[in-house]
Amino acid sequence: MPPRDHWSSRLGFVLAAAGSAIGLGNVWKFPYITGVYGGGAFVLVYLAAVALVGIPILVAEILIGRRARKDPVGAMRAVGGRAWAGVGWLGVGASFVILSYYSVVAGWTLAYAARAASGGFTGLDAAAISTLFDAFLADPTRQLFWHACFMALVIAIVVGGVAKGLERWNKVLMPALVAILLVLFVVALRSPGAAAGFRFMFHADFHKLTPKAWLEALGHSFFTLSLGMGAMLTYGSYLSTKTDLLRSAVVIAVFDALMALVAGLVIFPICFTFGLQPAAGPGLIFKTLPVAFAQMHGGSLFALLFFLLLAFAALTSAISLLEVAVAYFVDERGWPRPRATLGMGGVIFLLGIPSALSFSRLAHVHLYPGMTLFDSLDTLATNYLLPIGGLGIALVAGWRLARPVALEEFRDPRLFPYWHLAIRYLAPVAVVLILLFKMGVVG
Ligand code: PFF
Repeated sequence: MPPRDHWSSRLGFVLAAAGSAIGLGNVWKFPYITGVYGGGAFVLVYLAAVALVGIPILVAEILIGRRARKDPVGAMRAVGGRAWAGVGWLGVGASFVILSYYSVVAGWTLAYAARAASGGFTGLDAAAISTLFDAFLADPTRQLFWHACFMALVIAIVVGGVAKGLERWNKVLMPALVAILLVLFVVALRSPGAAAGFRFMFHADFHKLTPKAWLEALGHSFFTLSLGMGAMLTYGSYLSTKTDLLRSAVVIAVFDALMALVAGLVIFPICFTFGLQPAAGPGLIFKTLPVAFAQMHGGSLFALLFFLLLAFAALTSAISLLEVAVAYFVDERGWPRPRATLGMGGVIFLLGIPSALSFSRLAHVHLYPGMTLFDSLDTLATNYLLPIGGLGIALVAGWRLARPVALEEFRDPRLFPYWHLAIRYLAPVAVVLILLFKMGVVG
């Protein structure tokens, strides 16, 4: 057996984990669900969910992975006992589901980057840009082409391994992403809609907080931190025992939340400046930002950079999703990495086809009433698979792992009791309550 691949530095790990966390969830999804659920109050609940439930579970995932040095199935079995391997299975399954539709949206970002590179938005008005997006969604060939391109990139990176693939690429892509978001933030700050955009994001109107909004906020805190499916666990399994878990988790979560807030503060001011609907749904970023780029001085360049970097954000998340599946086949089945990467990447590409076609040929297929297949998979993963996986991870870390062992991994005896309380009671109760709520009261 060759020695287990590992991160070459703490920074490498933190960047890769932040790369997993910061993705389409921050730049595409967070702004649009904040728009749909009414702004400020939703943001507050989301931040509370990240702090009280997200961070403790993030620590738990990394801890379990590092303790076991295995993929999610093997790690849950080793730390929790045989019965808990099921939680690992759920995670591996979720990685297939999520990456299949995630890659479709990521494909949109590649397509838009290509379009921007050829100056394709210049001079178009909001209506023309909206039509452009709808026509793109209705075109199966283009959808599949870009979905295939994106999966090819993911496979090319993951095949390189932990230090030479994942870490190396995150070290380049993450700083670039941050720099571009900041440039766009400055542009948004100087737009006439800045004040309205800020008000929308930070003005808390609690009447708009429906039970569904609570569920969505909690679900999103899992999604955005890549929790509940073993991605962080897998990344933790390549981590040195010297790294401080809580500090790393806090850095990752704060970085992630900041990037989501900044993305919102880029998009909402632009919405208000150009009289666009902040509650436009999944198409928000593809219908709003290009409108601004079309009219901005140097807009083509900004558009190119923005969509390219959005694609990079998606890429650094997607590689962590594929890594979960790859780790399973390498660790549990003894497959060589290239075979696991190509094989599973190929399977995920195939699984993504129905999502890609759910806006055209398969528009009549519904898992949930009134939702496209694409939206249904996102709902299934975010609202059920990830919270249930997170619950399993919290229970194993809080109740199955011996306290002294947990403390030895956690290291800081002062803060340990708080984390332990959160992981034993707070996180499980919050997840169960929300799931029950969803089943009984809503839905
Ligand atoms: N955290 C990613 C995002 O916010 O876009 C999505 C994600 C990546 C979810 C990896 C789950 C995961 F394992």
